[in-house]
Amino acid sequence: MAAKPVKCEKTQWLGMPSAGTLLTAEMPRDAGALLSRWAGQVQTVYLDPPFNTGKVFETRLAAGEEDWKTGRGSVRGVAYDDRWPDRESYLSMMRGTLETCRELLSREGTLFLHADSRMIAPLRLMMDELFGESCFLNEIIWAYQSGGRSKAFFPRKHDTILFYAKSRQYYFNLKAVPVGTGAGRHNHMRRQVDEEGRAYRAITSGGKEYRYYDDDPVYPSDVWSDIPHLQQRDPERTGFETQKPAALLRRILACASREGDLVCDLFSGSGTTAAVALQTGRRFVCADRSPLSLTLAERRLDARPGGPPERGYAVEAPCRTEGASAEALITPAIASYSVFLKDFVSDEAAAAGLCGMDTVERWSCGFLRGDTYHCCQSSQRSRRQPQLAPMLEMPVYAGVPCVQLTDIWGNRRFFLPERSL
Ligand SMILES: C[S@@+](CC[C@H](N)C(=O)[O-])C[C@H]1O[C@@H](n2cnc3c(N)ncnc32)[C@H](O)[C@@H]1O
Repeated sequence: MAAKPVKCEKTQWLGMPSAGTLLTAEMPRDAGALLSRWAGQVQTVYLDPPFNTGKVFETRLAAGEEDWKTGRGSVRGVAYDDRWPDRESYLSMMRGTLETCRELLSREGTLFLHADSRMIAPLRLMMDELFGESCFLNEIIWAYQSGGRSKAFFPRKHDTILFYAKSRQYYFNLKAVPVGTGAGRHNHMRRQVDEEGRAYRAITSGGKEYRYYDDDPVYPSDVWSDIPHLQQRDPERTGFETQKPAALLRRILACASREGDLVCDLFSGSGTTAAVALQTGRRFVCADRSPLSLTLAERRLDARPGGPPERGYAVEAPCRTEGASAEALITPAIASYSVFLKDFVSDEAAAAGLCGMDTVERWSCGFLRGDTYHCCQSSQRSRRQPQLAPMLEMPVYAGVPCVQLTDIWGNRRFFLPERSL
């Protein structure tokens, strides 16, 4: 007999304080909802918006055990559509988003806006207007080698990240992001050793000696050429076409926020900001308009297969109650329930000619309490563990036992399992 579909739009991990929220939000349409909860609280915003490329970006979706084993990703999905009726509509979306971010930021807060050569000029002028020229801090050049090499002009091998402060009282700690030591950096100068035995190179200018110690830490300038784009076989890759490297976000969050600070990304994509925030002890609000993006982000946060993530987090996203059915059973034991996922069929799977269970990306069991699902245990496909667990366990708590299921297209569904004796 089929489990009963139920509606639920809020999820959190049972018994774990929440490190942050992943949510579905369309900017700037949903600005009001974000501002009503987080205005003035955000320390760092990172925005990696669409670049107005005129393209539809795809992502490869792995369906079932075989795809996960081979890393094939046999189903093509749309990551996001970056086609705009005209330049004005793109810039109007960006203006609304940047205005929202300005209000989300605390007085000490800063914003990093990632763009490329297509839209950087109008975005720079827009940022000067919205944040003030005196709050401009850097135009960071992120230089890389990957991508095509045009012969019609010089190959375009950098993105630009505009760095602005909300006010002149902003927080910034360059010392949190050393990129090595001075050893080998000033080889053209003569090497000497001081009275304490420390090696240095020196130059005298205007009668003054400048010393560069080999063991002094070195910090990045505004040209970042030491962080490569993700390679084809990089284990960090999620299949999402414009995914940014975690190393880029680690540098940004480390210098512009402290542990416990709230960081925000309103074009979250595959969830790079959320994943780095979770790993580095920041709290986060990460939003995207695409349900698929939310699914990828959730996969990255649940990096420990079978068990709960290192820190809990909340998800706020629409769910579907139609177009699918599941067979799920719950068996009471002494102090726990065993929950079995037996079958899943959906209209999407049928339309793609796939077995429904192969299209299940992740399932979990937990409780419904009020309007929130409290997740106890989840099973998520991964390269290391391509099969879904057929059974999960959860303790007996007050609340209605429930099963949550996400398919490869990002559709979220909740079902009340059948009780078996
Ligand atoms: C360049 S990608 C972000 C990639 C991300 N930094 C990563 O590392 O995976 C841009 C994202 O913005 C989202 N997006 C586009 N327009 C949006 C809007 N108006 N509101 C919210 N999200 C939007 C897309 O769905 C896409 O996931």
